[in-house]
Amino acid sequence: MISTTVTTYRPFAATDAPEAFAVFRRSLFDYLHRIGMVDAETAANPPIETAWASQGPWIEHLAATAAENWIAEDDVGRVIGWALSVERDGALELTHFFVEPGTQARGIGRGLLERAFPIGRGKHRVIMATQDPRALALYLRFGVNYITTSMDMVRRPRALEMNSGITFERLTPGDESVRAVGDIEAAILGHRREADVRFLLGNRAGWLARRDGSVIGFAFGANGSNSGPIASLDPSDIPPLLDHVENEAAAAGLEEVYFAVPMMNDVAVRHLLAGGFQIEPFYVKVLADSRSMQLDRWVHTGPAFII
Ligand SMILES: CC(C)(COP(=O)(O)OP(=O)(O)OC[C@H]1O[C@@H](n2cnc3c(N)ncnc32)[C@H](O)[C@@H]1OP(=O)(O)O)[C@@H](O)C(=O)NCCC(=O)NCCS
Repeated sequence: MISTTVTTYRPFAATDAPEAFAVFRRSLFDYLHRIGMVDAETAANPPIETAWASQGPWIEHLAATAAENWIAEDDVGRVIGWALSVERDGALELTHFFVEPGTQARGIGRGLLERAFPIGRGKHRVIMATQDPRALALYLRFGVNYITTSMDMVRRPRALEMNSGITFERLTPGDESVRAVGDIEAAILGHRREADVRFLLGNRAGWLARRDGSVIGFAFGANGSNSGPIASLDPSDIPPLLDHVENEAAAAGLEEVYFAVPMMNDVAVRHLLAGGFQIEPFYVKVLADSRSMQLDRWVHTGPAFII
C-alpha cells in the first residue's frame, strides 16, 4: 500500500527514469482500463520492459533536453508522479504528466503541473492530452484551449504507385537537415524543434519533399508502430507524403503503419479512409494557447509525447 501523507516534489534525476517510466505505464494503462480499452488484468500488469525498449530513447532524449522535469514522491521516497516539459524556440510543451493510480485526485498532479507547466511561461503552450477528465480539468485552467482531436489510423502497408511528380530526398543527420525541417516547422507550427529533429534523424528515416526543385514538405518514416511528423506547406500535398511513408513501410516489410492524424487535417483523414486505414479508438486532444498552428497540414510525431 502506497502511503501519501506527505508528498515531496523534487527535480528528476537520471536514476529516476525506470521508476518514473513505470508510474507512467501503470497510470496510462489504468486510464485505458477506465475507458474500456484494456482489461483489468492488463491494467494491473502493463507492459513496461517492452515499452521501454521502444520509448526509452525518447525518455532519455526528452529528459536530457527538458525545460522542467519533476518527480513527486511519497513519505517513504517512492516515485508517485512525474511531469516533464520541453521548451523549443520559446514554445513550452508538456510531454509527460502521470500520477500513480492509487494516489490520483488528491492534488499531487496540480503540484507537479505548477512546477512543470507554470502559467505564463512560454511564447506558446502546447499539450497532447489524453481525455482523462482529471488531466483536462487541470490543463484547461493552465493557459491552453481545445484545438483539435487527433487519432491513430492504421493498416498493413501497401506498395503504392507514386506518380505525384514529387521527389523525396533522404535527410542525413546534420545541421542542414535540421535547418530544412525547422524552416517548415517554423512556417506551420510557429516554432522550430531543433533538438527533436536531431533526435528524429537518428531514430527513423526522413525525407525532404520537392516539386520542381522547391521544397514542399518533409516526412519522417515508420519506426515500429510510430511514424511522423509529416508536414506539407500546402495541405493538398499531404497525400503523396503519406503514400511515400506507407510505401517505404511496405518495402521494409512492416506489418502495420500508423499515422497520428489531427482530425482538422481533412485531406489526410479523407485520403487515409479512402485507402482503407482503420481508426484506432485512442483519441487525444491537442490543446494550445492559440489557434496559430496550422494542423490542417500536419501529421503528428509518434509516440504522442510531442506534437
Ligand atoms: C492527470 C493526472 C496526472 C492528474 O493528477 P491528479 O493527482 O489526479 O490531479 P489533481 O488531484 O491534482 O487534480 C485533478 C483536478 O481535476 C479536477 N477534476 C477531477 N475530475 C473532474 C471532472 N470530472 N470534472 C472537472 N474537474 C475534475 C479535480 O477537482 C482537481 O482540480 P482542483 O485541483 O482544482 O481541485 C492523473 O489523474 C493521471 O495520472 N491520470 C491518468 C493519466 C493521464 O491521462 N495523464 C495525462 C496525460 S496527457
